[in-house]
Amino acid sequence: MNKQVFSPDVFEGKVAFVTGGGTGITGGVARALAEHGAKVAITSRKMENLEPMKAAIEESGSECHAVAADVRHFEAVEMAISETVERFGKIDIVVNGAAGNFLCWASELSPNGFGTVVDIDTKGTFNVCRAAFDQLKENSGQILNISATLHYLGTPMQIHVSAAKAGVDAITRNLAVEWGRYGIRVNGIAPGPIEDTEGMKRLLPPQLKESLTKKIPLKRFGRIADIEQAALFICSPAAAYISGVTLVVDGGHWLTGTGLS
Ligand code: HXC
Repeated sequence: MNKQVFSPDVFEGKVAFVTGGGTGITGGVARALAEHGAKVAITSRKMENLEPMKAAIEESGSECHAVAADVRHFEAVEMAISETVERFGKIDIVVNGAAGNFLCWASELSPNGFGTVVDIDTKGTFNVCRAAFDQLKENSGQILNISATLHYLGTPMQIHVSAAKAGVDAITRNLAVEWGRYGIRVNGIAPGPIEDTEGMKRLLPPQLKESLTKKIPLKRFGRIADIEQAALFICSPAAAYISGVTLVVDGGHWLTGTGLS
């Protein structure tokens, strides 16, 4: 993105806690929030997935705390949250981006394979929201859940992810209703096919990229920057009256009903 749309200090004084914040889409969101004034804590299962992003954010002059935690384990999440509060004093924004994915036919998927993705995506999202609740309540904070469009229709080989992300969307709506009274906004973003991400590498054989591009109404894959811009908007005061919404950022793709093929 050549032109900076949002003011570079729009998140000055804010602290963001971003899961899956080392790489891919949520890495981009973490970096974008930092570039717009936020202090950012990033978390992922492995510290080595966080270190390059932490270095990049710090190099650009912003503060970043990296903490390894598996979102499936509530105690680990609680520890990561309290480390962040110790370092930065509070949390205003939570971004849930940690996600699992692989292609597998439902008829071949083991119950543990199904459960693993639901545990990372859905239970992980709940764990982080729950552990951050006191901070969000105190600071009239907000939650941004990274979802998908796979479950709007039926997507072959994605039953586990579709079920998991449908659960994430339910969390977005339920928490928006329950926690609105504390001034907490809860929203989601549902990205379509985004290039240069681990998810796309796992889901789409390179030879199918061209035919899928033709099926996307805007005739291009999404870029991580597209999701960053949407996240900046949703987290910014410009979206102060938006809650309970999952914003689809997919170039119109899901409406064509063409899935990942
Ligand atoms: C079938 C698989 C499998 C595969 C794992 N399992 N990979 N089953 N096909 N390719 C099964 C295992 O056999 C096992 O079940 C169970 O899942 C748990 O496997 P583990 O390896 O023990 O789990 P773990 O290491 O905890 O996690 C594995 C993982 C995770 C879920 C695959 O490593 C992962 O997803 N990493 C990718 C991260 C990523 O790419 N995130 C971006 C997501 S993109 P059994 O029964 O054998 O014990 C995204 C966007 C979607 O979500 C939208 C796109 C348009």
